[in-house]
Amino acid sequence: MKIDIIAGARPNFMKIAPIIESIEKQSNNKINISYRLIHTGQHYDKNMSGSFFEQLGIPKPDYNFDAGSGTQSEQTAAIMIKYEELLIKETCDLCLVVGDVNSTMACSIVAKKLNLKVAHVEAGIRSFDLSMPEEINRMVTDSITDYFFTTSELANNNLLNLGINKKKIYFVGNTMIDTLLKNEKNFLKPEFFDKENLVIKKYLVLTMHRPSNVDEAHKLKALLVTIDNNSRNFPVIFPVHPRTSKILKNLGLKFQSIIMVSPMSYLEFNFLVKNSKCVITDSGGITEETTVMGVPCMTLRNNTERPETITIGTNELIGTDLDNLKTGLNKLFKGDWKSGSIPKLWDGKAANRIVDLLLKLN
Ligand code: UD1
Repeated sequence: MKIDIIAGARPNFMKIAPIIESIEKQSNNKINISYRLIHTGQHYDKNMSGSFFEQLGIPKPDYNFDAGSGTQSEQTAAIMIKYEELLIKETCDLCLVVGDVNSTMACSIVAKKLNLKVAHVEAGIRSFDLSMPEEINRMVTDSITDYFFTTSELANNNLLNLGINKKKIYFVGNTMIDTLLKNEKNFLKPEFFDKENLVIKKYLVLTMHRPSNVDEAHKLKALLVTIDNNSRNFPVIFPVHPRTSKILKNLGLKFQSIIMVSPMSYLEFNFLVKNSKCVITDSGGITEETTVMGVPCMTLRNNTERPETITIGTNELIGTDLDNLKTGLNKLFKGDWKSGSIPKLWDGKAANRIVDLLLKLN
Protein backbone atom coordinates (compact mmCIF):
# COMPACT_ATOMS: atom_id res chain seq x y z
CA MET A 1 0.00 0.00 0.00
CA LYS A 2 1.44 3.37 -1.09
CA ILE A 3 0.37 6.28 1.09
CA ASP A 4 0.85 9.98 0.47
CA ILE A 5 1.24 11.81 3.77
CA ILE A 6 0.43 15.51 3.50
CA ALA A 7 1.83 18.13 5.84
CA GLY A 8 1.76 21.86 5.29
CA ALA A 9 1.61 23.98 8.38
CA ARG A 10 3.06 23.96 11.88
CA PRO A 11 0.21 22.09 13.61
CA ASN A 12 0.50 19.24 11.07
CA PHE A 13 4.08 18.25 11.83
CA MET A 14 3.50 16.82 15.32
CA LYS A 15 0.49 14.89 13.99
CA ILE A 16 2.36 13.15 11.15
CA ALA A 17 5.56 12.33 13.07
CA PRO A 18 4.20 9.27 14.94
CA ILE A 19 2.31 8.02 11.87
CA ILE A 20 5.52 8.00 9.86
CA GLU A 21 7.35 6.26 12.69
CA SER A 22 4.66 3.60 12.86
CA ILE A 23 4.66 3.03 9.08
CA GLU A 24 8.45 2.69 9.11
CA LYS A 25 8.24 0.11 11.89
CA GLN A 26 5.74 -1.92 9.87
CA SER A 27 7.72 -1.70 6.64
CA ASN A 28 10.84 -2.89 8.50
CA ASN A 29 8.72 -5.93 9.49
CA LYS A 30 8.44 -6.65 5.74
CA ILE A 31 4.82 -5.56 5.66
CA ASN A 32 3.79 -4.06 2.33
CA ILE A 33 3.34 -0.42 3.26
CA SER A 34 5.26 2.63 2.06
CA TYR A 35 4.78 6.39 2.02
CA ARG A 36 5.77 9.59 0.29
CA LEU A 37 5.99 12.65 2.51
CA ILE A 38 4.65 15.76 0.83
CA HIS A 39 5.30 19.18 2.37
CA THR A 40 3.09 21.77 0.72
CA GLY A 41 5.28 24.58 2.04
CA GLN A 42 2.32 26.42 3.57
CA HIS A 43 4.65 27.18 6.48
CA TYR A 44 8.25 27.56 5.41
CA ASP A 45 10.37 29.46 7.97
CA LYS A 46 12.86 27.46 10.00
CA ASN A 47 10.99 28.26 13.21
CA MET A 48 7.56 27.45 11.73
CA SER A 49 8.64 24.27 9.94
CA GLY A 50 12.34 23.23 9.76
CA SER A 51 12.95 22.97 13.50
CA PHE A 52 9.94 20.63 13.88
CA PHE A 53 11.40 18.24 11.31
CA GLU A 54 14.75 18.23 13.12
CA GLN A 55 13.40 17.83 16.65
CA LEU A 56 10.69 15.28 15.88
CA GLY A 57 12.93 13.20 13.61
CA ILE A 58 10.61 13.63 10.60
CA PRO A 59 12.41 12.56 7.41
CA LYS A 60 13.14 15.05 4.67
CA PRO A 61 9.99 15.43 2.53
CA ASP A 62 10.00 13.60 -0.80
CA TYR A 63 8.35 16.64 -2.37
CA ASN A 64 8.07 20.28 -1.35
CA PHE A 65 5.50 22.40 -3.18
CA ASP A 66 6.70 25.77 -1.80
CA ALA A 67 3.12 27.00 -1.73
CA GLY A 68 3.40 29.39 1.24
CA SER A 69 1.94 32.90 1.48
CA GLY A 70 -0.83 34.45 -0.60
CA THR A 71 -4.54 34.64 0.04
CA GLN A 72 -6.58 31.61 1.14
CA SER A 73 -7.46 30.82 -2.46
CA GLU A 74 -4.03 31.51 -3.91
CA GLN A 75 -2.46 29.17 -1.38
CA THR A 76 -5.11 26.46 -1.82
CA ALA A 77 -4.93 26.67 -5.61
CA ALA A 78 -1.11 26.52 -5.67
CA ILE A 79 -1.17 23.37 -3.52
CA MET A 80 -3.87 21.73 -5.67
CA ILE A 81 -2.04 22.37 -8.94
CA LYS A 82 1.24 20.93 -7.62
CA TYR A 83 -0.36 17.87 -6.04
CA GLU A 84 -2.39 17.07 -9.14
CA GLU A 85 0.76 17.26 -11.29
CA LEU A 86 2.49 14.84 -8.95
CA LEU A 87 -0.38 12.34 -8.80
CA ILE A 88 -0.75 12.34 -12.57
CA LYS A 89 2.97 11.57 -12.91
CA GLU A 90 3.01 8.99 -10.13
CA THR A 91 -0.08 7.95 -8.25
CA CYS A 92 -0.61 6.41 -4.79
CA ASP A 93 -3.25 4.19 -3.16
CA LEU A 94 -4.32 6.52 -0.39
CA CYS A 95 -3.90 10.19 0.52
CA LEU A 96 -3.61 10.73 4.26
CA VAL A 97 -4.32 14.24 5.50
CA VAL A 98 -4.27 15.55 9.06
CA GLY A 99 -5.98 18.42 10.85
CA ASP A 100 -7.74 21.34 9.25
CA VAL A 101 -5.31 23.60 7.44
CA ASN A 102 -5.57 24.67 3.79
CA SER A 103 -3.18 21.88 2.75
CA THR A 104 -5.55 19.29 4.30
CA MET A 105 -8.50 20.40 2.20
CA ALA A 106 -6.52 21.12 -0.99
CA CYS A 107 -4.88 17.69 -1.20
CA SER A 108 -7.97 15.72 -0.23
CA ILE A 109 -9.94 17.36 -3.07
CA VAL A 110 -7.21 16.59 -5.61
CA ALA A 111 -6.86 12.96 -4.52
CA LYS A 112 -10.59 12.33 -4.48
CA LYS A 113 -11.07 13.82 -7.95
CA LEU A 114 -8.49 11.34 -9.19
CA ASN A 115 -10.54 8.55 -7.58
CA LEU A 116 -8.04 7.85 -4.83
CA LYS A 117 -8.99 6.98 -1.27
CA VAL A 118 -8.67 9.73 1.36
CA ALA A 119 -7.99 9.16 5.07
CA HIS A 120 -8.51 12.09 7.45
CA VAL A 121 -6.76 12.08 10.81
CA GLU A 122 -8.57 14.31 13.34
CA ALA A 123 -11.82 13.98 11.38
CA GLY A 124 -15.21 15.06 12.67
CA ILE A 125 -14.30 17.89 15.02
CA ARG A 126 -16.43 20.99 14.53
CA SER A 127 -16.58 24.52 15.93
CA PHE A 128 -19.75 25.23 13.89
CA ASP A 129 -18.20 28.64 13.20
CA LEU A 130 -17.96 29.17 9.48
CA SER A 131 -16.04 32.40 9.86
CA MET A 132 -12.97 30.26 10.59
CA PRO A 133 -11.15 29.05 7.45
CA GLU A 134 -10.32 25.86 9.37
CA GLU A 135 -14.00 24.98 9.84
CA ILE A 136 -14.57 25.15 6.08
CA ASN A 137 -11.48 23.00 5.57
CA ARG A 138 -12.85 20.42 8.04
CA MET A 139 -16.29 20.33 6.45
CA VAL A 140 -15.02 19.98 2.88
CA THR A 141 -12.41 17.37 3.79
CA ASP A 142 -14.87 15.26 5.77
CA SER A 143 -17.42 15.42 2.95
CA ILE A 144 -15.05 13.47 0.65
CA THR A 145 -13.10 11.34 3.17
CA ASP A 146 -13.22 7.53 2.96
CA TYR A 147 -11.63 6.68 6.33
CA PHE A 148 -12.29 8.91 9.33
CA PHE A 149 -9.79 8.67 12.20
CA THR A 150 -11.14 10.53 15.21
CA THR A 151 -9.76 11.91 18.47
CA SER A 152 -13.01 11.79 20.46
CA GLU A 153 -16.42 10.17 20.65
CA LEU A 154 -17.93 13.61 20.12
CA ALA A 155 -16.24 13.75 16.74
CA ASN A 156 -17.76 10.34 15.94
CA ASN A 157 -21.18 11.75 16.82
CA ASN A 158 -20.67 14.80 14.60
CA LEU A 159 -19.90 12.47 11.70
CA LEU A 160 -22.82 10.15 12.44
CA ASN A 161 -25.10 13.21 12.53
CA LEU A 162 -23.89 14.02 9.02
CA GLY A 163 -25.00 10.60 7.88
CA ILE A 164 -21.52 9.08 7.58
CA ASN A 165 -21.55 5.28 7.68
CA LYS A 166 -20.29 4.22 11.11
CA LYS A 167 -18.13 1.51 9.52
CA LYS A 168 -15.92 4.26 8.09
CA ILE A 169 -15.36 5.97 11.47
CA TYR A 170 -12.49 4.82 13.68
CA PHE A 171 -11.98 6.36 17.13
CA VAL A 172 -8.21 6.02 17.51
CA GLY A 173 -7.09 8.78 19.89
CA ASN A 174 -4.84 11.74 19.27
CA THR A 175 -1.57 11.60 17.31
CA MET A 176 -0.60 15.07 18.57
CA ILE A 177 -0.61 13.59 22.05
CA ASP A 178 1.48 10.61 20.86
CA THR A 179 4.16 13.15 19.99
CA LEU A 180 3.76 15.05 23.24
CA LEU A 181 4.08 11.95 25.43
CA LYS A 182 7.02 10.60 23.44
CA ASN A 183 8.95 13.87 23.67
CA GLU A 184 8.03 15.01 27.18
CA LYS A 185 11.29 13.76 28.66
CA ASN A 186 13.28 15.73 26.06
CA PHE A 187 11.68 19.13 26.50
CA LEU A 188 14.33 21.84 26.31
CA LYS A 189 14.70 24.89 28.49
CA PRO A 190 14.71 27.91 26.13
CA GLU A 191 17.80 30.10 26.21
CA PHE A 192 15.85 33.13 27.37
CA PHE A 193 14.42 31.28 30.42
CA ASP A 194 17.27 32.16 32.77
CA LYS A 195 18.08 35.48 31.08
CA GLU A 196 14.53 36.65 31.78
CA ASN A 197 14.72 35.21 35.34
CA LEU A 198 11.67 33.01 34.74
CA VAL A 199 10.63 30.87 37.68
CA ILE A 200 8.68 27.61 37.32
CA LYS A 201 4.88 28.21 37.61
CA LYS A 202 5.47 31.94 38.01
CA TYR A 203 4.93 33.07 34.41
CA LEU A 204 2.24 32.82 31.74
CA VAL A 205 2.44 31.82 28.07
CA LEU A 206 0.46 33.62 25.38
CA THR A 207 -0.14 32.66 21.72
CA MET A 208 -2.43 34.38 19.21
CA HIS A 209 -2.72 33.92 15.49
CA ARG A 210 -6.44 33.59 14.58
CA PRO A 211 -7.44 36.13 11.94
CA SER A 212 -10.44 37.10 14.14
CA ASN A 213 -8.10 38.14 16.98
CA VAL A 214 -5.06 39.51 15.21
CA ASP A 215 -6.03 40.88 11.81
CA GLU A 216 -7.70 43.99 13.23
CA ALA A 217 -5.13 46.08 15.07
CA HIS A 218 -7.53 47.58 17.64
CA LYS A 219 -8.74 44.12 18.80
CA LEU A 220 -5.22 42.76 19.07
CA LYS A 221 -4.10 45.84 21.01
CA ALA A 222 -7.05 45.66 23.44
CA LEU A 223 -6.39 41.98 24.21
CA LEU A 224 -2.67 42.54 24.75
CA VAL A 225 -3.13 45.61 26.93
CA THR A 226 -5.70 43.77 29.10
CA ILE A 227 -3.39 40.80 29.57
CA ASP A 228 -0.43 43.08 30.30
CA ASN A 229 -2.41 45.04 32.92
CA ASN A 230 -3.89 42.00 34.68
CA SER A 231 -1.03 39.54 34.89
CA ARG A 232 -0.03 40.64 38.43
CA ASN A 233 3.50 41.31 37.22
CA PHE A 234 3.94 37.68 36.24
CA PRO A 235 6.01 37.70 33.02
CA VAL A 236 3.90 36.72 29.99
CA ILE A 237 5.96 34.99 27.31
CA PHE A 238 4.49 35.65 23.88
CA PRO A 239 5.99 33.73 20.94
CA VAL A 240 4.70 35.83 18.06
CA HIS A 241 3.29 34.04 15.00
CA PRO A 242 4.32 35.62 11.64
CA ARG A 243 0.71 36.59 10.91
CA THR A 244 0.49 38.47 14.25
CA SER A 245 3.94 39.95 13.88
CA LYS A 246 2.97 41.74 10.66
CA ILE A 247 0.16 43.59 12.45
CA LEU A 248 2.07 44.24 15.68
CA LYS A 249 4.97 45.91 13.89
CA ASN A 250 2.89 48.97 13.12
CA LEU A 251 1.43 49.33 16.61
CA GLY A 252 4.58 50.32 18.49
CA LEU A 253 3.22 48.88 21.77
CA LYS A 254 5.30 48.85 24.96
CA PHE A 255 4.50 46.32 27.69
CA GLN A 256 5.35 45.90 31.39
CA SER A 257 4.88 42.13 31.58
CA ILE A 258 4.57 40.77 28.05
CA ILE A 259 7.85 39.55 26.61
CA MET A 260 7.71 38.96 22.86
CA VAL A 261 9.88 36.19 21.39
CA SER A 262 10.10 34.50 17.97
CA PRO A 263 8.00 31.40 17.26
CA MET A 264 9.63 28.61 19.25
CA SER A 265 10.75 25.08 18.47
CA TYR A 266 8.51 22.22 19.66
CA LEU A 267 10.68 21.03 22.53
CA GLU A 268 11.32 24.52 23.87
CA PHE A 269 7.72 25.67 23.54
CA ASN A 270 6.40 22.67 25.42
CA PHE A 271 9.03 23.06 28.15
CA LEU A 272 7.69 26.57 28.59
CA VAL A 273 4.05 25.42 28.61
CA LYS A 274 4.60 22.54 30.99
CA ASN A 275 6.23 24.77 33.58
CA SER A 276 3.91 27.75 33.21
CA LYS A 277 1.14 28.87 35.56
CA CYS A 278 -1.29 29.17 32.67
CA VAL A 279 -1.52 29.43 28.91
CA ILE A 280 -3.66 32.03 27.16
CA THR A 281 -4.24 31.10 23.52
CA ASP A 282 -6.49 31.06 20.49
CA SER A 283 -4.96 27.83 19.18
CA GLY A 284 -6.89 24.55 19.20
CA GLY A 285 -3.98 22.12 19.42
CA ILE A 286 -2.40 23.86 22.41
CA THR A 287 -5.61 23.33 24.41
CA GLU A 288 -5.16 19.57 23.93
CA GLU A 289 -1.53 19.71 25.05
CA THR A 290 -2.33 21.79 28.16
CA THR A 291 -5.10 19.32 29.03
CA VAL A 292 -2.64 16.44 28.94
CA MET A 293 0.01 18.38 30.89
CA GLY A 294 -2.59 19.59 33.43
CA VAL A 295 -1.78 23.26 32.82
CA PRO A 296 -4.65 25.80 33.15
CA CYS A 297 -5.64 27.17 29.76
CA MET A 298 -7.77 30.17 28.73
CA THR A 299 -9.01 30.17 25.17
CA LEU A 300 -9.52 33.54 23.50
CA ARG A 301 -12.36 32.30 21.31
CA ASN A 302 -16.12 32.05 21.62
CA ASN A 303 -16.23 28.42 20.51
CA THR A 304 -14.03 25.38 20.18
CA GLU A 305 -13.94 22.30 18.00
CA ARG A 306 -12.33 20.50 20.94
CA PRO A 307 -15.00 20.63 23.70
CA GLU A 308 -13.45 17.74 25.64
CA THR A 309 -10.59 20.08 26.59
CA ILE A 310 -13.25 22.01 28.53
CA THR A 311 -15.55 19.26 29.81
CA ILE A 312 -12.68 16.94 30.75
CA GLY A 313 -9.51 19.03 30.59
CA THR A 314 -8.13 22.29 31.96
CA ASN A 315 -9.38 24.63 29.26
CA GLU A 316 -12.03 27.34 29.55
CA LEU A 317 -13.55 29.48 26.82
CA ILE A 318 -12.86 33.10 27.74
CA GLY A 319 -13.92 34.59 24.40
CA THR A 320 -12.63 37.99 23.43
CA ASP A 321 -14.61 40.03 25.94
CA LEU A 322 -12.07 41.98 27.97
CA ASP A 323 -14.05 41.72 31.23
CA ASN A 324 -14.18 37.92 30.89
CA LEU A 325 -10.45 37.92 30.40
CA LYS A 326 -9.95 39.91 33.62
CA THR A 327 -12.34 37.57 35.48
CA GLY A 328 -10.45 34.54 34.15
CA LEU A 329 -7.12 35.95 35.31
CA ASN A 330 -8.56 36.79 38.75
CA LYS A 331 -9.82 33.23 39.10
CA LEU A 332 -6.43 31.85 38.11
CA PHE A 333 -4.53 34.00 40.60
CA LYS A 334 -7.02 33.13 43.36
CA GLY A 335 -6.07 29.49 42.77
CA ASP A 336 -9.59 28.50 41.69
CA TRP A 337 -8.73 26.86 38.34
CA LYS A 338 -10.04 23.34 37.76
CA SER A 339 -7.53 20.48 37.54
CA GLY A 340 -9.05 18.30 34.78
CA SER A 341 -8.23 14.81 33.56
CA ILE A 342 -7.17 13.15 30.31
CA PRO A 343 -9.62 12.25 27.52
CA LYS A 344 -10.09 8.63 26.50
CA LEU A 345 -7.43 7.11 24.20
CA TRP A 346 -5.10 10.10 24.45
CA ASP A 347 -2.52 7.55 25.48
CA GLY A 348 0.35 7.79 23.01
CA LYS A 349 -0.81 4.90 20.82
CA ALA A 350 -3.09 6.58 18.28
CA ALA A 351 -0.67 6.36 15.33
CA ASN A 352 -0.16 2.62 15.84
CA ARG A 353 -3.92 2.15 15.82
CA ILE A 354 -4.21 4.13 12.59
CA VAL A 355 -1.50 2.18 10.80
CA ASP A 356 -2.89 -1.18 12.01
CA LEU A 357 -6.28 -0.17 10.63
CA LEU A 358 -4.82 1.02 7.31
CA LEU A 359 -3.16 -2.37 6.87
CA LYS A 360 -6.47 -4.12 7.43
CA LEU A 361 -8.21 -1.84 4.93
CA ASN A 362 -5.64 -2.80 2.30
C1 UD1 B 1 -2.36 28.37 9.56
C2 UD1 B 1 -3.61 27.49 9.56
C3 UD1 B 1 -4.16 27.39 10.97
C4 UD1 B 1 -3.10 26.96 11.96
C5 UD1 B 1 -1.93 27.95 11.86
C6 UD1 B 1 -0.83 27.59 12.84
C7 UD1 B 1 -5.08 27.52 7.59
C8 UD1 B 1 -6.33 28.08 7.03
N1 UD1 B 1 -4.64 28.09 8.74
O1 UD1 B 1 -2.75 29.70 9.83
O2 UD1 B 1 -5.20 26.42 10.96
O3 UD1 B 1 -3.62 26.97 13.27
O4 UD1 B 1 -1.45 27.89 10.53
O5 UD1 B 1 0.31 28.33 12.64
O6 UD1 B 1 -4.50 26.63 6.99
N2 UD1 B 1 4.16 32.99 7.28
C9 UD1 B 1 5.49 33.26 7.45
N3 UD1 B 1 6.32 32.21 7.71
C10 UD1 B 1 5.86 30.93 7.78
C11 UD1 B 1 4.50 30.69 7.62
C12 UD1 B 1 3.66 31.73 7.38
O7 UD1 B 1 5.93 34.39 7.38
O8 UD1 B 1 6.66 30.01 7.97
C13 UD1 B 1 3.22 34.08 6.98
C14 UD1 B 1 2.46 33.80 5.68
O9 UD1 B 1 3.18 34.21 4.59
C15 UD1 B 1 1.16 34.53 5.90
C16 UD1 B 1 0.97 34.47 7.41
O10 UD1 B 1 2.24 34.14 7.97
O11 UD1 B 1 1.27 35.87 5.51
C17 UD1 B 1 -0.05 33.46 7.79
O12 UD1 B 1 0.26 32.15 7.30
P1 UD1 B 1 -0.88 31.20 6.71
O13 UD1 B 1 -0.26 29.92 6.29
O14 UD1 B 1 -1.68 31.94 5.72
O15 UD1 B 1 -1.89 30.90 7.87
P2 UD1 B 1 -1.76 30.90 9.44
O16 UD1 B 1 -2.38 32.16 9.94
O17 UD1 B 1 -0.36 30.58 9.85
